[in-house]
Amino acid sequence: MDLQTTYMGMTLRNPLVISASPLSEKLDNIKKMEDAGAGAVVMFSLFEEQIRQETASFNFLMDQGTNSFAEALNYFPGIDDYRVGIDHYLNLIRQAKDSVDIPIIGSLNGTTSGGWMDYAKAYQEAGADGLELNVFFIPTDTGLDGLSVEERYLDILRIVKDSVSIPVAVKLNPYFSSMGNFAKKLSDEEGADGLVLFNRFYEPDIDVDTLEILHTLELSSPNEIRLPLLWLGILHGKINATLAASTGVQGSTEVIKYLLAGADVVMTASCLFKKGIPYIYQILAELEEWMQARDFKSVNEMRGVMSQSNVADPVAYERANYIKILQGYQAV
Ligand SMILES: Cc1cc2nc3c(=O)[nH]c(=O)nc-3n(C[C@H](O)[C@H](O)[C@H](O)COP(=O)(O)O)c2cc1C
Repeated sequence: MDLQTTYMGMTLRNPLVISASPLSEKLDNIKKMEDAGAGAVVMFSLFEEQIRQETASFNFLMDQGTNSFAEALNYFPGIDDYRVGIDHYLNLIRQAKDSVDIPIIGSLNGTTSGGWMDYAKAYQEAGADGLELNVFFIPTDTGLDGLSVEERYLDILRIVKDSVSIPVAVKLNPYFSSMGNFAKKLSDEEGADGLVLFNRFYEPDIDVDTLEILHTLELSSPNEIRLPLLWLGILHGKINATLAASTGVQGSTEVIKYLLAGADVVMTASCLFKKGIPYIYQILAELEEWMQARDFKSVNEMRGVMSQSNVADPVAYERANYIKILQGYQAV
């Protein structure tokens, strides 16, 4: 069975990519991921706030009395709260590159254009094969219009792309008013080599007893694949960037669905926390088994077979289908 795929211009031995999480904080885990069969590893993120705190430019800003930013930073973890510092991170990239053959993709996480983006270059110099940009931005300012939010992403991508020669992917959230158009802008206008659909938004909850905002992190469940699946299915074949599916993978079934919708790679994090790194091996074995049973000889052959461009009824991805579902629901 030929599982090979191309992502961000890189040839991967298979489409299962480990997405950013603390599992990659340990070199030993990265080696285990390779041993279990992973196609590539995305490292956990360095955060803009962390970089600003760790670098001299931040001190300079503080000295200049840019209080609003300093105050805002008080809400973020202090410098000692990050488990891994910048130097350690860059060393980990170097060590991973010396120890494994699969691609290592560094992750940078930030929301404004600034000095933190210089670290894209540092990732490249440390040997990263690619870079994933996670712009986890929540536009709480009601004065900020959608175009400005998009511009922020495009600016960050443009600056990073200009500073490195390694491929760059953008990890997106699904909350854009015209997702397809924005994806096309990132890809075809600004040259994103990959789009990761989607970032899992960590939303607050409320404790009704203590009246506190809760920030618990729940690992994902399989029904969460539906939103990424929709957009992968729609975007497959319509933009230049390669597509990564992210969120909800618990086993081979979700991987198969994502590939059929049109993903070039499928990422997973939560299920490895639940089942351990060697579970990668089982997912891949089951994927091959499924392909064999359906006579698909390669991942390339099955990719996008169920995308909007390829299904007999493209309306299945559109409003008409929504109406059918609502009208067809039988109340008990
Ligand atoms: C404990 C934990 C830590 C994570 N840390 C990061 C991170 O540093 N950077 C990032 O871009 N995504 C991070 N993620 C998000 C994952 O990469 C992934 O996008 C998300 O969990 C959805 O995929 P899943 O359903 O396979 O878990 C983290 C997820 C978990 C569970």
